[in-house]
Amino acid sequence: MNTEVLDPQMQAETLGASVQQRVTAMIDNLMDRLPSPDLLTSEERRGIIARYSSVLEGNFIYWMTAAYLAVHSDEARPILIENLHEEVRDSHPAMLRRFVIAAKAYPTDTDALAVNAELTAIRLFLGKLQGVQSLATMAFFEGFIQKFMAYLATLAKQQGSRELEYTDVHGVCDIAHSQGLFNAVRLEMALNPISADANLYEGVELLIALIRRIIQGPQPNLEA
Ligand SMILES: [Fe+2]
Repeated sequence: MNTEVLDPQMQAETLGASVQQRVTAMIDNLMDRLPSPDLLTSEERRGIIARYSSVLEGNFIYWMTAAYLAVHSDEARPILIENLHEEVRDSHPAMLRRFVIAAKAYPTDTDALAVNAELTAIRLFLGKLQGVQSLATMAFFEGFIQKFMAYLATLAKQQGSRELEYTDVHGVCDIAHSQGLFNAVRLEMALNPISADANLYEGVELLIALIRRIIQGPQPNLEA
């Protein structure tokens, strides 16, 4: 079918489906490259949990709020509100902190600074308040978190922890969140389309760089 004859709603549906497909492939690619927990040292496992926590605990609600502020679509907003409501009502930051403390992986200043550059890039990106790109980024994030939970739980168990409420809850409920966010991307595309020269995956690419930094840890000091 020639896309030129499609109305904006149908174009958004078609493009939305291709965004979902591509984002899902990007998540799977990232998951495939995770190092096997068995091949990591205890300190490497601790570092991944600590850097993940350093990014997620204080930023997830902030970033979901930023996406809320960026969207123009009245239909997309309730999807984000529902997400934020659950985060706040069930205090997911408290749940994450319990998980991290039990795994003896509370982040140090070194852990926080290891992800500083990539984290700052995401904050500045979300500050541009671009509806479609922000929603695509959060859809990617939710989808990634859901798939990453089993891996994170394995790291925590190998560190001797049995406190797994955070990974149990997020391995399930975020499936619905992720789908809701892809629907929000479609709704926003129909109302507030991005310009032809914009990169729809700008935030997704920055988030992939941040997640890689969480996994890899600090860049080697070339002067050392
Ligand atoms: Fe959460």
